[in-house]
Amino acid sequence: MNDITNNTAEIKKRVLSAVQPSGMLTLGNYLGALKNWVSMQDEYDCFYAVADLHAITVRQKPADLRAQIYSTCALLLSVGLDPQKSTLFIQSHVGAHTKLSWVLGCYTQFGELSRMTQFKDKSAKHADNINLGLFAYPTLMAADILLYQPDYVPVGSDQKQHLELCRDIADRMNNLYDNLFKIPEPFIPKIAARVMSLQDPTKKMSKSDENINAWVAIVDKPDDIMRKFKRAVTDSDTKVCIGEGKDGINNLIGIYSAITGKTAEQIEAEFEGKGYGDFKKAVGEAVVEELRPIRETYEKLIKDKSYLEEVYKSGAQKAEYVASRTVNKVMKKLGFVL
Ligand code: TRP
Repeated sequence: MNDITNNTAEIKKRVLSAVQPSGMLTLGNYLGALKNWVSMQDEYDCFYAVADLHAITVRQKPADLRAQIYSTCALLLSVGLDPQKSTLFIQSHVGAHTKLSWVLGCYTQFGELSRMTQFKDKSAKHADNINLGLFAYPTLMAADILLYQPDYVPVGSDQKQHLELCRDIADRMNNLYDNLFKIPEPFIPKIAARVMSLQDPTKKMSKSDENINAWVAIVDKPDDIMRKFKRAVTDSDTKVCIGEGKDGINNLIGIYSAITGKTAEQIEAEFEGKGYGDFKKAVGEAVVEELRPIRETYEKLIKDKSYLEEVYKSGAQKAEYVASRTVNKVMKKLGFVL
């Protein structure tokens, strides 16, 4: 890093976030997280990771995992993350993550980890494979965060409990060994879209949903996107407005708002006197146009392994520089011989 980048990096507040590798990131991942990551690039010094180590807490086929890691790297670039502005890297490439994770694990209580709702859900779902990694998942996530001493961590609501635990661990260790870590704040984006299933709008949109009409992949083709929106479940009312018991319409308004930047009131006015059919078509079209350039870029990048490699290797180098400073400081203060 030269002096100029170093200086600007010091003035800007730092952001860290990560996404698990999945070849099928959804419209929910895009509107709920990635789109905001892109919008933070100029104002903040951003570190964005592909959390590949987290992926093996449930069984993965090696060939699929590899393809998904590449695919996620390509998607991060396709949505508009710029490796000149942000540090994009793969978690397992920076050894400090697993090292700090072990240390943090020794300062995390069994009871605390047992209370994590994601652990309870996932262990119910994968009852034949309740492994140590699944249980310790939040300590690895805490390491991902604390290594970079970020000011803010953009996370979805399902990760808030993990971030809270991360803050508790950091605070506990700061009290024992004075000022090891900056205590990170959750970052709540201005337009926070929590995208729900198109088939059961009381549930979060998820790629593991068996009904393929329930979710939209970022790289879905226009025809598929339109079909899914046309079939989106609504209600027996006819008015396009936010309301109780109108989960389907509320969700569509949220999606349309996140893409167009319009407020719910503006959207209600725009569709005054129009039916659900028109509205669903308009939302579908807005999504198609938003995702079209992303898919086109993705299709080029996914074939360009050498460019992807260039990006993640230089990202790992930058990440390593920051992460190793933190982990060395921690080891030293805990009494390890360096
Ligand atoms: N656990 C997060 C998720 O599943 C992904 C993640 C891993 C993460 N490490 C992180 C998010 C650090 C924020 C910060 O969505």
